[in-house]
Amino acid sequence: MKKIGVLTSGGDAPGMNAAIRAVVRFAIFNNINVVGIKNGFRGLVEGDGIEMNLSSVADIIHRGGTVLGSARSKEFQQEDGFKKALNNIKYLGIDGLVTIGGDGTFKGALELGKAGVPTIGIPGTIDNDLPYTQYTLGFFTALTTVLESVEKIRDTSSSHGRTNVIQVMGRNCGDIALYAGLAGGAEMVIIPEVEYNIDEVCDKIMQGRARGKKHSIIILAEGAGDAKNISEIIEKKTGVGTRYSVLGYTQRGGTPSAFDRLIGSQMGAKAVELLNNSISNRVLGVNGNEIFHMDITEALSMKKQFDENTYELTKILSI
Ligand code: F6P
Repeated sequence: MKKIGVLTSGGDAPGMNAAIRAVVRFAIFNNINVVGIKNGFRGLVEGDGIEMNLSSVADIIHRGGTVLGSARSKEFQQEDGFKKALNNIKYLGIDGLVTIGGDGTFKGALELGKAGVPTIGIPGTIDNDLPYTQYTLGFFTALTTVLESVEKIRDTSSSHGRTNVIQVMGRNCGDIALYAGLAGGAEMVIIPEVEYNIDEVCDKIMQGRARGKKHSIIILAEGAGDAKNISEIIEKKTGVGTRYSVLGYTQRGGTPSAFDRLIGSQMGAKAVELLNNSISNRVLGVNGNEIFHMDITEALSMKKQFDENTYELTKILSI
């Protein structure tokens, strides 16, 4: 392994910079050169790569976003674009590629692997929607960001005796909502994994008020419905003033948490170690305190298990 490429693709996630830094520094430590590919697979299609050195990744470990830029490239998914990417990989002299991103990124890596490019995937997405790993890079930082907002909204919700619906990201996965619901003491979470009944939501709000609760916080996963619509229905049915907030892109940015910096650093180094040992077409994951790797095809074929226990506990604790 003489030269490794590294890219970040799809929605950015806090901690990606820690992973990039680790790839670059661990590779250089092992006498391997590194090319940073700009803007994900689009950069491969366009041949947009820069040689990285120790200083290229100085002062980035604590920064959100990704210094390499990110994109969702349609061109890469088409035959012409894919061919261009393969040619550029050759032209840039890349012997192995570290791809940091979510499942779209891994699908791209899988195709490159089939075409003979050794890849290692690092799970980077705030959504925590990759089935094979307990946590993804960025999830805990996004969760903390959500909690900061929940606490602020709770203050005003309590002052005005309102119901507040807070919509969070996560695509089709309810993990951000679910974990924020438990950690933020929400009255209810609405997530795509569990069918909900709006009358039950309203009953719960009224029961809480009957026993003196001043406010109700409902955390809604974006994949489960629309905050504006749901809050209008709740206000109509309960007669309680109901407001909504869509937290949006605040969840994607900001200083990465200690956990995300740690796993970003560990996975970045591990990715280089694997490629340097001729192990490829694998993805890295986190299980407890451990970083593991598994076959990329197997990882992509898995179905995410719903965390029933956390859901039930959130419900029990919010009575
Ligand atoms: O995958 C991360 C994510 O932030 C999702 O939670 C959200 O649905 C999506 O990306 C938004 O995508 P975009 O950045 O393309 O608007």
